[in-house]
Amino acid sequence: YDTRAAQTPPMGWNPWNAFRTDVDEAKIRGSAEALVDNGLAQLGYLYVNVDDGWALQRLADGALKIRETMFPSASVDHSATGSFRPFTDFIHGLGLKAGLYTDIGRNTCAQRWDAASPNLPVGSVAERQVGAMDHGEQDMKTMFATWGFDYVKIDACGVADYAPDVEPVRSGQFAVFPPTIVRGDIPKSDPAAVEAQYAALSAAIRKWGGPDAVLSICAWGEALSPRWGHRHGNLWRTSPDIEFTWESMLRNIDSAVYRTLYAGPGRWNDPDMLAIGHGDFDENHLTEARAHMTMWAIMASPLLLGYDLRQSPQALLDIVGNREVIAIDQDASGNQGVAYRSGEGMVMVRTLSGPGARAVAFFNRGDRPISLKADWDQLGFAAGTPAAVRDVWTKSALAPATGAISVDLAPHEAKLFRVRGTPADPKALWLDEMPGRI
Ligand code: DGJ
Repeated sequence: YDTRAAQTPPMGWNPWNAFRTDVDEAKIRGSAEALVDNGLAQLGYLYVNVDDGWALQRLADGALKIRETMFPSASVDHSATGSFRPFTDFIHGLGLKAGLYTDIGRNTCAQRWDAASPNLPVGSVAERQVGAMDHGEQDMKTMFATWGFDYVKIDACGVADYAPDVEPVRSGQFAVFPPTIVRGDIPKSDPAAVEAQYAALSAAIRKWGGPDAVLSICAWGEALSPRWGHRHGNLWRTSPDIEFTWESMLRNIDSAVYRTLYAGPGRWNDPDMLAIGHGDFDENHLTEARAHMTMWAIMASPLLLGYDLRQSPQALLDIVGNREVIAIDQDASGNQGVAYRSGEGMVMVRTLSGPGARAVAFFNRGDRPISLKADWDQLGFAAGTPAAVRDVWTKSALAPATGAISVDLAPHEAKLFRVRGTPADPKALWLDEMPGRI
């Protein structure tokens, strides 16, 4: 996949986890300003993304009309569609980059699931087809060339994972498919057809957005983007939506953690946006918030914040703003960490750029204290040689280690170290030079 974009995992903020479809321009602009004011922008949190709910209608000429009650500044040009230019100009004026959301099918996810949302598209069936299906070229031209976005997240709710001729069923939390549903044509069970949709959109993004435009593919499931996302996009979701629970975070780690060889500059496994600031990862759960951040950093995952930054506790800013942790996530080598799992314990080793440089994460998934060890074989260090070890959470140097690094971990605790040692064989092919990289 030929791209200059996202040479390191994208960092920024997305309103979905904080606001769902109860979002508006003021909340997004406020969070963008907060990114600058609290120093996170300077640390690399640059993308401010709009998520689901902004598209009001598809007009007869195929153009998308913006929901101006949500984005009042869009009405400034008095056109039939409205324009995101005032919004993207504002974001760019802050030194940030702007992202938008769409879907490869005929409808978006909120349309499909969120029957109660006040922000569903309106009008006839044709007018409610705000997904990019059959409009990819036109929509990407509008988003990148006309509106000036830098990034697009493309969801996959508008494909049918039921046959088009089968009636919707009553299931789970969704009593019936809401009447706003516009049936997709592509069964989600046909991965090649789903991939072809993304391939076409990817080409349109390159054409209208240029080599720096970022494509975030949001189509998970074993047969979907985790297998082919690297061919068309810069990041691809590996799991369902993160929920604000410890179990959900573990599930999302497991979805990405063994996909090491897909990752590299310009292409990243995406176990979803950060849940920090919510539920099991709020300011009363700093051990869990640090563990979450540690695992995303060692996996070279995108760092997209998802809580209301206009009122962030300092303790959370200290976690998401730890520059040594961010430096590990953003390491230029682009290597994702390699996992060693034993029971509730995980040891992750990531090869960093620079001779003998590694990051090592130790992670306790469980509810009892454990001890873990990373030995010199796992780190690729020569037997008997010492290594310098720095704890990036406490920001302190530990005593040099030889042979292994050992830690004790409280329940749910993670430790993250930057290590510099002597490679066992300096000429050995290590991950970043591996010819087999996918
Ligand atoms: C599903 C995605 O996975 C979420 O991140 C979010 O974009 C919603 N769709 C919006 O409906």
